[in-house]
Amino acid sequence: MAVLQWSQDLSVRVPSLDAQHQTMIALINELHDAVTGGRPRLFVDAAIEKVVEYTREHFSFEENCLLKACYQRFEHHQCEHSELAAKLDLLRWRHRNGDDAAGTELVETLTTWVHRHIRGSDRSYAGHLVRSGTE
Ligand SMILES: [Fe+2]
Ligand SMILES: [Fe+2]
Repeated sequence: MAVLQWSQDLSVRVPSLDAQHQTMIALINELHDAVTGGRPRLFVDAAIEKVVEYTREHFSFEENCLLKACYQRFEHHQCEHSELAAKLDLLRWRHRNGDDAAGTELVETLTTWVHRHIRGSDRSYAGHLVRSGTE
């Protein structure tokens, strides 16, 4: 069962970024299914790899958009991304090294991230990016 679902209240009003957030949510759901479905650990490792790498790519794309649009809170936003990226790296490392609980913690961390960061910090840049013409 899906742990997360994209809805309009997560929209940042920029189609490319909404699409990436939807992909992130789909990958978090895949990881959740792998963790709760008792799948082999190599399968879970692959799902972790996918969501962690995609999250990094998304951060770099989003930061580029914010830079191009001269977003005033760019540094603060980038800091939040760096903190999560470091957390994800550590959890991925723990899982690779035999700690099964790290898979569950990854799902929890990413779910909290969607509720707090996307709904909060990402939605705060929406108006600015729309005015700058970002698509
Ligand atoms: Fe962000
Ligand atoms: Fe984002």
